[in-house]
Amino acid sequence: MAKSTLSFVCQNCGAAYNRWQGKCDACGEWNTLAEEDSTGNVPVSIRSKRKGRTFALESLSGKSHDAPRLSSGMTELDRVTGGGFVRGSVLLVGGDPGIGKSTLLTQATSMMARAGHRAVYISGEEAVAQVRLRAERLGLANAPVQLASETSVEDIVSTLSEGTVPRLIVIDSIQTMWTDTVESAPGTVTQVRASAQALIRFAKKTGAAIILVGHVTKDGQIAGPRVVEHMVDAVLSFEGEGSQQFRILRAVKNRFGPTDEIGVFEMTGLGLREVSNPSELFLSERDLGSPGTAVFAGIEGTRPVLVELQALVAPTSLGTPRRAVVGWDPSRLSMVLAVLEAHCGVKLSGHDVYLNVAGGLRIQEPAADLAAAAALVSSLVNAPLPTDAVYFGEISLSGAVRPVAQTSARLKEAAKLGFGRAVLPESARGDASDAGLALNSVGGLTTLVAEIAARGTPRGNHQAPRDDEPVEKNATPARFRREKS
Ligand code: TYD
Ligand code: MG
Repeated sequence: MAKSTLSFVCQNCGAAYNRWQGKCDACGEWNTLAEEDSTGNVPVSIRSKRKGRTFALESLSGKSHDAPRLSSGMTELDRVTGGGFVRGSVLLVGGDPGIGKSTLLTQATSMMARAGHRAVYISGEEAVAQVRLRAERLGLANAPVQLASETSVEDIVSTLSEGTVPRLIVIDSIQTMWTDTVESAPGTVTQVRASAQALIRFAKKTGAAIILVGHVTKDGQIAGPRVVEHMVDAVLSFEGEGSQQFRILRAVKNRFGPTDEIGVFEMTGLGLREVSNPSELFLSERDLGSPGTAVFAGIEGTRPVLVELQALVAPTSLGTPRRAVVGWDPSRLSMVLAVLEAHCGVKLSGHDVYLNVAGGLRIQEPAADLAAAAALVSSLVNAPLPTDAVYFGEISLSGAVRPVAQTSARLKEAAKLGFGRAVLPESARGDASDAGLALNSVGGLTTLVAEIAARGTPRGNHQAPRDDEPVEKNATPARFRREKS
C-alpha cells in the first residue's frame, strides 16, 4: 500500500508544502494552508501499475453531431449558457452567499421537471424541508423535481445511476460534498477536487447535465482550487449588490458558447423574475437633472444595454486624492483622468474621484470611456448633462474619440427607450444615419469638455432645471421623469 503523506495545501490556490507556513508563497494569501492527505488525489486503482488499453484514434473530419442542448425554460439562463444545457456537460455556478443561486437553480430544475425531464436537486446545505419551503414560496411545490439532502458523492452517483438518466442534476454546493476516496475533511481543496472529478466522470458517462454550485471567497473567486474551474465546461457567476434587486448571471468560461452574454434577473418576493429588457430596469431609478450622471449605450454580448454612469468629483482633503470605482475597470478610469488632465486642461489632482455604474452592472467595454468622461466633467463643473442624451465611444491616449462596434444597435435601443440624441465618435456617423436620433459627433475629447463646461454653473449655485423649462421638458423621455414630491 502506498505510504500516506501528509502535506499542507493552500485552500485558495491549491499549492502544496511540506511544512506549515503562515503565508502561501504561490498566491500570497495568509492563513490558507491546511493539512491534507495528498496521496488521496489519485485513486489507488489508477496508481497501480497496469498495462495500458489500446483505443481507436479518430480523424478530424469524422461526423460530429451537434452538441444536443436542452432548454432550461428560462430565456435569460439559456442566453448565458449559449442556448441551453449541453448533455454530459458540467457547469459551475458561483456567487456570494444569499445572492440567489439556490433560488435560480430551484426554478431551473422545476421548469425542466415540468417539461417532463428527470430533474434532480441535491442539497448538501439545506434539509429537504427547507428546500420544499423555498419551492412553496416560489409557487413550484407541485413540480415533479426529485429532491434529496445528501453529501456523499458515492451515494449520489449510485442513486442516480438507477432508472432513467437524469437530464439535469443540481449539486448545491460542491463544497459540502465528500468522497470516500480521499481522507481530507469536506470543503478542503482535495475533497472538492475529488468530488468534482467523480461527478464530472458521471456526467460524461451518462450524458446528464450537472450544475455545481460553488461558494465565492471574499475576493470574488470561487472557493476551492482553481482546478475545479478548469475541470468544468462552463463557469457562470451570479452577481449583484445585496441591497438591490438586480441579479446578473455572467459566463466567465464556456466551452459551448459565448462568454460575453449576460442574463438579467430581478429578485422579487416570488423568486427571480427574468428581465428581458435590462435597459429599462437600469434606467428606472434615474436621478434626472443632477450633475455627474451620463447614460452609456453599451453592448453586453449580443444585446444593447443602456446604463447610467454616476461620477462625483469633489475637492480632496487628503494628500493623495481618492480614486474609487464600482462596476468599471479602475485602470480605465485612471486613463480617462490622465487624458482629461493632459489634453483637455482639466485639473483633477486636487479632487477625489468616484465613479459608479448604476444597478450593479459591471461594464467591460472600452466604449464606456466617453460616457465616463462626460459624467466626470459634468460633476466637476457642476453642469447637468442633457437628460435625453446617450454617450458611447472609446477614448485614445491622444484624446481622440475612436469608433466602437455596433453603433446602430446602440442607437436603436436608445431611440426605443425615448432618448433624443446621441454623443458618439465622429467616424461612427455613417452607421448611424437612420436611427432617428439627433447625432452629436465628437472627434476629440476637448470638444466635449468645452461643450459641457459651457453649461456649467459654479458649485453651490446650481438649481435643478425647472419642469416648465421648454428644453428640458421636451428633452426628458416621459417614462424616466421622476415624480417630484
Ligand atoms: P438563496 O437562493 O438561498 O441564495 P444562495 O443560494 O445564493 O445563498 O437566496 C437567498 C436570498 O434570496 C434571501 O436573502 C432571500 C431572497 N429571496 C427572495 O427575495 N425572494 C424569494 O422568493 C426567495 C426564494 C429568496
Ligand atoms: Mg444556497
